[in-house]
Amino acid sequence: MKKKYSNPKNDSDEESQTSSKRQARGWWGEGPVFVFLYDKRKKEAITNGEAEEILQFIKESEHTLYESEALRVIRVDNEYSHPVLFVDTGKEPGLDTLDHLRMAGYRLAKWAENNAIKTLMIPPLKDDSEAKRYAILQGLCYASYTFDKYKSKKNKRTDVEYLFADNMEIDGNSLQTLFSGIDLAKDLINEPGNALTPAIMANIAQSIAQKHGLDIKIRKSKELEKDGYNGILTVGRGSKNEPAMVTLCYRPKQKNIYHLAFVGKGITFDTGGICLKPSDKMYEMKSDMSGAAIVLAAIKVIAELKLPIEVDAILCLAENRPGENAMLPGDIFKAKNGKTVMIENTDAEGRLVLIDGIEEATSLGVTHIIDIATLTGAIRRALGTSIGGLFSNSDGLAETLIESGAESGEKWWRMPLDEEYAEGLKDKVADIRNITDDGPGAIVAALFLKEFVKEDLQWAHLDIAGVDFTTKNYKYTEYGATAFGLKTLVETAKKYSMDEIRS
Ligand code: BES
Ligand code: ZN
Ligand code: ZN
Repeated sequence: MKKKYSNPKNDSDEESQTSSKRQARGWWGEGPVFVFLYDKRKKEAITNGEAEEILQFIKESEHTLYESEALRVIRVDNEYSHPVLFVDTGKEPGLDTLDHLRMAGYRLAKWAENNAIKTLMIPPLKDDSEAKRYAILQGLCYASYTFDKYKSKKNKRTDVEYLFADNMEIDGNSLQTLFSGIDLAKDLINEPGNALTPAIMANIAQSIAQKHGLDIKIRKSKELEKDGYNGILTVGRGSKNEPAMVTLCYRPKQKNIYHLAFVGKGITFDTGGICLKPSDKMYEMKSDMSGAAIVLAAIKVIAELKLPIEVDAILCLAENRPGENAMLPGDIFKAKNGKTVMIENTDAEGRLVLIDGIEEATSLGVTHIIDIATLTGAIRRALGTSIGGLFSNSDGLAETLIESGAESGEKWWRMPLDEEYAEGLKDKVADIRNITDDGPGAIVAALFLKEFVKEDLQWAHLDIAGVDFTTKNYKYTEYGATAFGLKTLVETAKKYSMDEIRS
């Protein structure tokens, strides 16, 4: 589906538009189908109108022609033979108002596409706001995503257009920019390992940098070795596909005192290495580069939005394989900051590549570092598949991230970073080892990273291992990459650029 959104094309008032269309066409016809949003559970009308009346109307209508239980969209005939849709915004429990609207926009678009309806007219909302309209349009944008490049037979797609039945200006550009980022991140995450190696990802980053005027530095094995980035190098050694670190810098003319770095885990495939993963579901590890895809998409969106703040994105790219030259359990390498690391488990590889990214960010003189990574199965067990794990050494940064997430429909839960658990990371031979004998896996992983963060830097670690990829319907994603975290990063950059942050 292609998505479109616009204001009504002519300036005549709503009433006259409506009646002329009523006469002009019969059933679905060519013109827009009218939509009312309501919350069935709360018995609340979302668009103008009274909930009681709407519910009564649906109940009494003898002409309820179609009800899609899955999409909660009801089509009702009325005295003018004019189709009206009723969409229940409150179908999914536990979401906030804006996410309810995103879901409604999404289900409506799916329904419209299935029924080859092109244009939907949405009457003014109660307590109307730009944010609410954007949420509905975001649902439409989410519904239009598809990853069918590997299907020989593609589904025929309909263009769906939403019209708001008044003349409030809607600037579709920023929405388009955001979704070009979301769709890019999803495309990268959904690509299989054979199609997206570190080198290919670096090339994609290069062309994005060129297009958006970003500075870029790509380090392959030789440069990683020269600069002492041994974490990425060590993890990538087991694969013929060379590892890489990509640093992208966005330097706007207008800037402020903040300088953000986003560091992304980019394991283009995680077999576990010599500590091989079980084969069941291993294929999902093609998405172990979600963090890198998200930071790349985030800097692209931020550059397109021309936010007045300096931002760097660092992609830590490697393929974790049990090849001939692969790292072995017990191997020790020296990180760039001089600490020696013993690799007890080759499947705990994400933290090994991230410490290089954190070091690179530090060398760029940033004020804040946010890393994002599909780091641990443990965070999935702790928080499930709807909530991301957040760790931070700064209350202000943590709260700003949580707030940014809440505004964009991404839930974060702040986890403890209790030094007590760091004891287990001490090694008998090297300075530190990459796992502990027991203990809370997600926290231990975060504490490992913290060992490589300078104390005066504000740092947050986002563990998205539970939320980055879905195998069942999850909100506005049916299957595959969710790009969870991208909106949070963009929103956070906006807040820092406007100095609207928590301290
Ligand atoms: N990429 C995985 C984490 C993961 C698990 C992501 C499930 C998405 C879904 C990571 O590299 C890993 O294997 N972590 C190990 C760490 C363990 C060996 C300490 C894990 O979580 O099992
Ligand atoms: Zn792993
Ligand atoms: Zn991994």
